[in-house]
Amino acid sequence: MSIAYVPAMTQPPFPSGASIAIAGGGIIGLSIAALLGERGCQVTVYDPAEPGRGASWAAAGMLAPAFEAADHGDQHPDLLAACIASRRLWEDWARGLEDDTPGSLGFAGSGTLALATDEEGCARLEAMAGAIRAAGGTAHSMPRNELLAREPGLGDPVIAGLALASDGRIDNRAVVKALLARLEARPNVSIVRGPAPLRLVGGTVIAEGHDRAVIAAGWRSPGLIVRDGERELPLKSVVPSLAAVDPVKGQMLAVAGNADRPPHHTLRHGGLYIVPRRDRVIIGATSEPGAADTCIDPRAIADLKTAAGALLPDLSARPTLETWAGIRPGSPDHAPLVGPSEHPAILLACGHYRNGILLAPLTARLIAHSLQAGSVASDRLSDLAGLADAFSPRRFAAAPV
Ligand code: GLY
Repeated sequence: MSIAYVPAMTQPPFPSGASIAIAGGGIIGLSIAALLGERGCQVTVYDPAEPGRGASWAAAGMLAPAFEAADHGDQHPDLLAACIASRRLWEDWARGLEDDTPGSLGFAGSGTLALATDEEGCARLEAMAGAIRAAGGTAHSMPRNELLAREPGLGDPVIAGLALASDGRIDNRAVVKALLARLEARPNVSIVRGPAPLRLVGGTVIAEGHDRAVIAAGWRSPGLIVRDGERELPLKSVVPSLAAVDPVKGQMLAVAGNADRPPHHTLRHGGLYIVPRRDRVIIGATSEPGAADTCIDPRAIADLKTAAGALLPDLSARPTLETWAGIRPGSPDHAPLVGPSEHPAILLACGHYRNGILLAPLTARLIAHSLQAGSVASDRLSDLAGLADAFSPRRFAAAPV
């Protein structure tokens, strides 16, 4: 699927004066707020915690359609297409956010090497390359000597690799700051440090004082509180599709970095990734389904550092600068729930699992599309309607709605 980004200035405002509540101030909620704000909506972002400091802050900022979505048998069939589409949207999305300070978000459109250390790993990379090529992308297989020419310093266990043209990165913490700055400058967008005013009225969930609400609170979305008179209910008890969203904890660390020293690429090997930043190198991540705490297990951190050191020995002796944990919002098919829920006033934008940073611009587009029925032609996003159907929360609804 190919999707062209059309600058928001060319879009008609919609629906004029509509008041939209967004529950959740992570990168998904902030991106939706930015797009809807540009399009003339009155937007209020609600978050009881500091906006952007959950999974959006914890992430490594990978924009990695190939590694995250190619060749995984157990995922939504359209996830790869969506990830590729959103990766393309990032080109302009990043440029727009960088208006004042170009390059400040550390956007790299490519520069990822997937590594193999045994025959099984080589076979997995070949399968991944096949899936990427079938989707119209490029993946260049290379033996160890060619890898070393690109990334000197790789450890002895590395025997082969794959250069992934589609997989890049961005500084997710800088993105959060840029989004917040952009929203603060908009008179029609406000950020409230508190819960969204969700109410159950006559069996229907609404956001008091708003025309629509978008639930974008990541793994916390199912547990958001809805008031029914004096009672407080978890949102998932009245929006059954939300029961599909589960926490998946990830622990990570950062070691000292230096632009003159390796790595010069994002390196990936199974669940391990090594991501260069200006002054640090991020190493992640554990994957702990069902865990919703942010405690650090020193053994898990040590294991990550040891595994990274085997791929790139130079990392082993570097001081650890930071350790942290984030909680991904998992879903059964590893794809997000985006669009209208079982309740007409409530849309969902959650369950992005490992791809929240990558899928943020596409999610904002899909939500705008859902709120602006009949505007596909003016968006010139020919595949948007198809993706909106594909990721509809209704696929997890208890009964047809
Ligand atoms: N996107 C990488 C992760 O979730 O760990």
